[in-house]
Amino acid sequence: MRTETGITIRREDYQPYPFLIPTIELEFELSAERTQVRSRLVVERRKDVLISSDLILNGEDLTLVSLELNGVVLSQTQYTLTEATLTVHNVPDRAELVIVGTCQPAQNTSLSGLYVSGKHLFTQCEPQGFRRITWFADRPDVMSIYRVTLRASRSEFPLLLSNGNLLQQRELEAGRHEAQWHDPFAKPSYLFAVVAGDFVCREHHTRTASGREVLLQVYSDVGTEDQTEWAMESLERALRWDETRFGLELDLDRFMIVAARDFNMGAMENKGLNIFNAAYVLANPNTATDGNFQAIESVIGHEYFHNWTGNRVTCRDWFELSLKEGLTVFRDQEFTADMMAAGLPATEAASARAVQRIDDVMGLRLSQYPEDRGPMAHPIRPESYQEISNFYTATVYSKGAEVIRMMHTLLGEQAFRAGMDEYFRRHDGQAVTCDDFINAMQWALQQTAPQKNLDVFRHWYRQAGTPRVSVQLQHDPVAKRCTVTLTQDCPAVGVEKASPIVKQPFHIPVTLGLLDDTGKSLSPQVTLELKEASQTWVFDNISTRPTPSLLRNFSAPVLIDYAYQDQELALLSAHDDNAFTRWEAGQEIASRKMIALAQAWRQHAKFEELDPLLAKSWSASLLAKDLDAGYRARLLSIPPSHAVIERMAHMDPLAVLEVRTRIREQLGTTHAATLLNTYQANLTPGQYSPSPGPAGKRALKNLALTYLMASKHPEAANLTQTQFRHATNMTDRMAAFTALIHDGSSELNAPAATQFYEDWQHDQLVVDKWFSTLASSPRTGVNELTGLMAHPAFTMRNPNRVRAVVFAFCMSNTRGFHAQDGQGYHFWSDQVLALDAINPEIAARLARVGDQWARFIPEVSQRLHAQLERIATHPTLSRNTLEIVSKALS
Ligand code: ARG
Ligand code: ZN
Repeated sequence: MRTETGITIRREDYQPYPFLIPTIELEFELSAERTQVRSRLVVERRKDVLISSDLILNGEDLTLVSLELNGVVLSQTQYTLTEATLTVHNVPDRAELVIVGTCQPAQNTSLSGLYVSGKHLFTQCEPQGFRRITWFADRPDVMSIYRVTLRASRSEFPLLLSNGNLLQQRELEAGRHEAQWHDPFAKPSYLFAVVAGDFVCREHHTRTASGREVLLQVYSDVGTEDQTEWAMESLERALRWDETRFGLELDLDRFMIVAARDFNMGAMENKGLNIFNAAYVLANPNTATDGNFQAIESVIGHEYFHNWTGNRVTCRDWFELSLKEGLTVFRDQEFTADMMAAGLPATEAASARAVQRIDDVMGLRLSQYPEDRGPMAHPIRPESYQEISNFYTATVYSKGAEVIRMMHTLLGEQAFRAGMDEYFRRHDGQAVTCDDFINAMQWALQQTAPQKNLDVFRHWYRQAGTPRVSVQLQHDPVAKRCTVTLTQDCPAVGVEKASPIVKQPFHIPVTLGLLDDTGKSLSPQVTLELKEASQTWVFDNISTRPTPSLLRNFSAPVLIDYAYQDQELALLSAHDDNAFTRWEAGQEIASRKMIALAQAWRQHAKFEELDPLLAKSWSASLLAKDLDAGYRARLLSIPPSHAVIERMAHMDPLAVLEVRTRIREQLGTTHAATLLNTYQANLTPGQYSPSPGPAGKRALKNLALTYLMASKHPEAANLTQTQFRHATNMTDRMAAFTALIHDGSSELNAPAATQFYEDWQHDQLVVDKWFSTLASSPRTGVNELTGLMAHPAFTMRNPNRVRAVVFAFCMSNTRGFHAQDGQGYHFWSDQVLALDAINPEIAARLARVGDQWARFIPEVSQRLHAQLERIATHPTLSRNTLEIVSKALS
């Protein structure tokens, strides 16, 4: 049984919009139940675009009140109104259109357009929310100057914010007031924003590099004034960093960030008025973990950096999304790395950067690699979509950032910066394509290397899939010569299967070192540029057969295939002087052994002895006290189940979980004494700081604790409980709490759950932590989860809460979700359908849990398939969810 699929939009069908809309004036009569919007558009026919004379505007869930063209009220024959468009017929070359309409924010549960959150009003317009506020050419290549007047009840909405500069504010009759805003920069509608409500505001005055005074503001719910200091500091660091690293200054007099409790994603870069998920703004040591602090800094950086990469230069259409997202993720990753390394001596700085790189690569492998082999696989610039909201993907964002990073590697910092400068010189104020970006980079490349180009490199934008690079190494001891042959392959994936394209080789930078059998470098590190199906490089003066250290710093988003001997991996994991590949070698050992153990477990339901190689390399890292603590915590982490499952021919989640649990248990038991020492040696007394030094120590100490808990060490329960009770920061409290809930005995975890909730019920973001710890606990099955959803603090309306409970269960609770009885899968489809009626974007995201159904062992695969069918045949499915499930089933 198949349902119909939605309408497919193709990149090749792009047509410019036949009108310019240089200015738009908006007047809002704001209220939660019914907001009226009067929009005055100046439209000018483009002489260079010959399409019909009709003016077609997008509009959704709106009620039309009146329509005037050049001062004349239009009769029903002069326009056509449908569910999705307003078409005005016979529009003259230059005209003024006044549209009055209404929308219903309180009924808007999709959180796209104008909606209510708590007592406030917020907007979310990217990608297509503006059409839910008023009729407009809601596409990124139509750029206008906005003037906005907001009117509302003063007591209900004392603050009225929009983009740009505040022109004036005044009192009106009947307790109402008004604010007028003007944004001096032309922008597409997706960057428009309005916020109304009652907030506290943290302010900071500073100067830009060129000496202009600017006002920075962070708005948040009343009562959270002690949680915005870090956000403000992060914002100022972001400002300084963009000035020094890219020569880019803030172009407005005022820059505002507002925290919203109900928000579909992380944050939004509306011009001058960023709106954030509160989870990426609010933090203090008592409520937020080290991970939260870091995420806040990076998201604040990300949205701020969009002001240039996204806003000043924007996208021609949504196929070009990675133009701004891939580039901005690259920029925020570099920002975080520079912040982590700031002020540290060289070796510590290198390891702080390596930690950052490891975390970014882990994220890519856990989310993007599976996407790249599943039904939703798409190039970083997709060729088609049904619902654009489904394409804010790991591929567009994280792989997009890797593609920018490869250009950075190929050009070097200086030429890359020259390419960025050229990009802004050419395209400031325009809506452009990824090709325009590559052209600017190619220009910069050719300034220093005229013979080079990015012609082959462009294929990264057109082809999906993770290329596999096989490595052959030959050594001739007589000639002292080593040859390295790299061969690439990338079979068709996702949509490429249905409409085949001829896949060309990618341009892949492979950074490599060669080590002798004591771990010393045999030749200087090089970056090989693989541009053909297969190429060979020769290294002379290599007297012994080397061990290759491949893909240093993860120089390309590929899979490396090299037949490493066990002892070669052991050598790299003990001696590689590249911190990234050293970590990688240890993970490779663990993953290989885990897969073998999982297969054995599936066959004879028993856990074989822990592999000596894995045990040895792990304990070597445990003893390597000279290494930075944060880095050591990464070395000592057993690869997450998902990363291992992903590498299996037939994915077997329960088997992997089982062996992972046993491995941690055994390591904990065997090394209890050293783990206890490690715990004690990495306490961080004194004042809390989220910087990499102390955060790394906490990571290592808390990891030691989880091994001790996993192995049921007699002292572990006490230690964990003491830490839980007396922690002076949320990182330590959460680590202990998670250990008690996930690994503690039943006498321990019930009281801990009660205690934590009692202590923190007043703080919604901490309550989310409580929910997600319980939802992802191996003790939580569908029944327990259903109990959790009956908790008075649970609601399907708040995306953060849904992520903390439903997503945490379906995505992070392997045991509960994949339980043998199949109840987890049924629960999942129930929740997709329930959410779909409320918030299609979130529902579609949850639906993607089914993407990988065909790759599991047969019993899992069949059951997931049945649930996908169930979703697909639901009579009223949103376009969002329909696209996901129909692709999964095709
Ligand atoms: N541009 C935003 C960012 O900074 C994300 C917007 C996502 N929109 C959506 N409907 N999912 O990444
Ligand atoms: Zn972004």
